[in-house]
Amino acid sequence: MTEEIAVVPGDGIGQEVVPAAVRVLEAVDPGFSFVEAEAGDAVAAARGTPLPESTVETVEAADATLFGAAGETAADVILPLREAVGSFANVRPARAYPGVDALRPETDLVFVRENTEGVYAGHESDLGEGVTTLTRVVTESASRRIAEFGFAYAAERGADVTVAHKANVMRTTDGQFLHAVDAVASEQGATYDTELLDAMATKLLLDPSQYDVIVCPNLAGDVLSDLAAGLVGGLGLLPSGNVGAENGLFEPVHGTAPDIAGEGVANPSAAILSAAMLLSHLCHDGEAARVRSAVEAVLEDGPRTPDLGGSATTDAVAGAVIDRL
Ligand code: NAI
Ligand code: MG
Repeated sequence: MTEEIAVVPGDGIGQEVVPAAVRVLEAVDPGFSFVEAEAGDAVAAARGTPLPESTVETVEAADATLFGAAGETAADVILPLREAVGSFANVRPARAYPGVDALRPETDLVFVRENTEGVYAGHESDLGEGVTTLTRVVTESASRRIAEFGFAYAAERGADVTVAHKANVMRTTDGQFLHAVDAVASEQGATYDTELLDAMATKLLLDPSQYDVIVCPNLAGDVLSDLAAGLVGGLGLLPSGNVGAENGLFEPVHGTAPDIAGEGVANPSAAILSAAMLLSHLCHDGEAARVRSAVEAVLEDGPRTPDLGGSATTDAVAGAVIDRL
C-alpha cells in the first residue's frame, strides 16, 4: 500500500532541509508518495494567507506530514497544522551523538510536551491603556491524555518519567495538571518524579543524565527542549513529532534560521531525524533504524555543516547519509 506523505517545507532553511530529508526517504523507499503543499511567509505574501485551505486539506488527507518551518507566520501555520492532524503530544528527543561537540555528551532524554493548551491556547487580550492579558488553559482531559501518552511512551522504552511543573505558583492550573498526572499514574501503577520547571532548567544543564522522559505543559516543553538543544550541540540536531489521534506531523525543532537561509549550509540532521520519526510512526521501524544509524555515522565521521564545525553543504550531508543507508 502506498502511503501519502504531505511535504510542507515552509520558509527559510525549511526549503533546504526538508528536500534533503525527502531525498533520504526516497532512498529508503518504504513505498511513499509525496504531495507538496505551501505554508508560511512566502505564501502569505503571494496569496494573502500563510496557511491556504488546500494545505490544511492535504495535511489532513495524508498519512503523515513532514514540515520544515515558517518565519514570522509560524504561530499561524504550525498551531492550526498541529490541530489539523489531531495532535495532542509533541515528542522531542534530545540526545548527544558521538563525534559532535556537545556541552553535555551524556544527554539522552525525550520531552513529551502537551500540545494543545496552556499559554499557547491563544486567549490573549489587549485591554488598552498599556494592559495586556493572557489566559492559561489547563483542562483535566488534556492533562490526563498527555499523562497517559507519556507513561505509555516511557513504559515502551523502560524509561523513568519526570513531570515538570510550576504548581507552587500556578496552583490552580498546574495543580490540576499534576493532579491528573497523579491519577493516571495510580491507575496504571506507574511511578514518576516531579521537578519545578525553573529548578529543572538548572538541573538539566548540570546533570541531564538524571532524566529520561520529561512530561510537561506546553510552554515548559518549548523552552526546556531548546535548552536541551544547547546541551547536545545545537538546534540542527533536534527532531520532533506532533502525534496523537492517528495522523502525525514531523518537524525539526528549529525555525527558518534567517541568518543562514539561502546559503545551502543548514544542518539537515534534525529534518532527517524527523523523517525517521515519521517512518517509525508509520511502523516502518527497519527503515527508521537505518536512517538513524546513517545520520549517526555521518555525525561521527563527517561531512559536517558549519554549525558543527565543518564546511559541508546541506546537500553533501544528505548525500553522505544516503551513502551510509
Ligand atoms: P531558529 O531555530 O530559526 O535559529 C536559531 C539559531 O540556530 C540561528 O543562529 C540558526 O542559524 C541556528 N540554526 C537553526 N537551525 C539550524 C540548522 N538546521 N542548521 C544550522 N543552524 C541552525 O530560531 P529563531 O532565530 O528564533 O527564529 C527564526 C524564525 O523562525 C522566526 O521567524 C521564528 O518565528 C521562526 N520559527 C519557526 C518555527 C516553526 O515553524 N516551527 C520554530 C521556531 C522558530
Ligand atoms: Mg520552540
